[in-house]
Amino acid sequence: MMQKSNLPEAYAKAHLPSKVSLAVTQKPDGNYNLITLEWFMRTSIQPPMFAISVGHSRYSHECLQDVRFFNLVFPSLEQKELLTLSGSKSGREIDKFAAGDVKYIPGKLAKLPVLSDAIACFECEVISQVKSGDHTIFVGEVKHSWKNDEKELFFFK
Ligand SMILES: Cc1cc2nc3c(=O)[nH]c(=O)nc-3n(C[C@H](O)[C@H](O)[C@H](O)COP(=O)(O)O)c2cc1C
Repeated sequence: MMQKSNLPEAYAKAHLPSKVSLAVTQKPDGNYNLITLEWFMRTSIQPPMFAISVGHSRYSHECLQDVRFFNLVFPSLEQKELLTLSGSKSGREIDKFAAGDVKYIPGKLAKLPVLSDAIACFECEVISQVKSGDHTIFVGEVKHSWKNDEKELFFFK
């Protein structure tokens, strides 16, 4: 029987094992930051686009106001610890690339890191943003894409 529910219990029903991503942004000082994201989606076929929803309190939000590029990274199974680190610590306090010993090569768009141990990476330029309550949806146009055939996609349960 369908019944009226409080919000957390209805959210829990809708929360299937789902894909999780990492977004790389550039800090104002030129270093890089990482954020774990569950709220992202493809939003256009041509031109190719991804949207990411970033909380106003996140340091990544501040970074994206300044440098209008992000790399959307699809992590591999071996990057579980990096997802935990990037989803629990803020780039205001730590350098997640150093703390997570992250291996990368520079991207082709704005030289933002393309994570070597991920399974795919999309280099995006922010072309619009929409305030959505306490988050902002940043819409990025994909300019370059990368893949790694040797790794398996991480799923969040
Ligand atoms: C599994 C998981 C999914 C998350 N999804 C999002 C998300 O979609 N949007 C968001 O703003 N924060 C999300 N977060 C929280 C941020 O990753 C977290 O607040 C992070 O420490 C912010 O880092 P920053 O301050 O360096 O930007 C998620 C965290 C976890 C663990």
